[in-house]
Amino acid sequence: MITNPLLRLERRLSPEALALIQRAGALAAKGRLRIYLVGGVVRDVLMNRPSADLDLVVEGNAIGLAGSLARESNGRLVIHRRFGTAKIRLGSLNVDLAMARAETYARPGALPSVQPGSIQDDLARRDFTVNAMAIRLERGGFGQLVDPFGGQADLDNRLIRVLHDRSFIDDATRMLRAVRYEQRFGFRLEPDTEKLLRRDVGMLRSISGDRIRHELEMMLGEEQPEKALKRAGELGLLAEVHPALEGNGWLAEVFRKAREAAAPQTVALYFALLTYRFKETQCEDFTHRLKTPGPVSQAVRDTARLRQQLPSLAQPCLAPSAVFELLQGYSLASIQACAIATDSAVVRERLTLYLTRWRRVRTGLDGSALQKMGVPAGPELGRLLKELRDAKLDGRIVTREDEIELVQRWLSQGR
Ligand code: CTP
Repeated sequence: MITNPLLRLERRLSPEALALIQRAGALAAKGRLRIYLVGGVVRDVLMNRPSADLDLVVEGNAIGLAGSLARESNGRLVIHRRFGTAKIRLGSLNVDLAMARAETYARPGALPSVQPGSIQDDLARRDFTVNAMAIRLERGGFGQLVDPFGGQADLDNRLIRVLHDRSFIDDATRMLRAVRYEQRFGFRLEPDTEKLLRRDVGMLRSISGDRIRHELEMMLGEEQPEKALKRAGELGLLAEVHPALEGNGWLAEVFRKAREAAAPQTVALYFALLTYRFKETQCEDFTHRLKTPGPVSQAVRDTARLRQQLPSLAQPCLAPSAVFELLQGYSLASIQACAIATDSAVVRERLTLYLTRWRRVRTGLDGSALQKMGVPAGPELGRLLKELRDAKLDGRIVTREDEIELVQRWLSQGR
């Protein structure tokens, strides 16, 4: 059961966020405007979950109010006049302000055209009932819940429900959002919503690669993305993104391992694992369709290439320098992906040793030190540096003195 939203606000928001919305409410009352907290933060507050950023909607001039609010709270203000929106950054707190809008869609998949509207209009253009609630902030009405679509009841019943039958046609990315919220909160798609989703699955094809990728990235940003991916697979959504994309048990297993490995570039790694079993041409289709940024495309492409090299990494008695030679030039995310996904223990061990030790091996002598010792500049110098590194990787030399001795031997042999 949900208690008074006012109490929830006081309990769930940080003191800075609470002070800011109270100041926003006072300013709005002074200007005879209505201002509301909206969207995900309202849902999170009502669910008693922490929520990072604040979304505010003003019935009227949001930019003017944002200016006064930023001044009074010493925040950094960025204005997007074309969209009638503003952002305030206050320490670690991000606040978005927008004018209440009404929306119409010219055609499925297109971005909507927008006019000024009421809070009801603004909520009516949103994705799900649980995201279509607002809390009034002006003095006088502070803490009052605006819930025209039964979002509170759906929160109680743990349901993700669209606001109308054309919701997924208007914006097919909502199908991916629906499973993301469903799996994040352990909710269910409301049965009619699920029927509509199954009806409209094909609409995903009308969505630009950038928007699909953004939603996939949001999914990959969840604590356990494999849950939403599995569900998206079952509902036929992944196949619409790319026919080879699957959200199966194997993926769940490698995603879990990726988190345990705590790799720094998780998104590129997740994408590399998502496409691990793709053929090279399918990888190209995928990165092209989703317009993935450079490092992600590189990780996906490298993984497809490196996977073909893995049998040569399984040979017995392979020197570390040979492993280094083979892996040099592949992106780290692709090597991590292969280390996580390979079935071969010996390959995994070699990839892991490369990632954790061998790739960091440095010789004590560099190019200029070699030149001082009499090695002429040019390709020979490069070959000698590589010889030093290989010898160090393979444990044939250990100290700087060993390196000097190796160079002197090389010079005395007149090479
Ligand atoms: N929204 C929508 N349709 C979309 C994207 C967003 O209706 N395709 C609305 C929802 O009301 C959502 C709000 O815009 O609550 C803000 O979007 P976003 O920041 O993506 O979502 P949050 O609800 O803040 O979700 P999250 O918890 O994932 O940050």
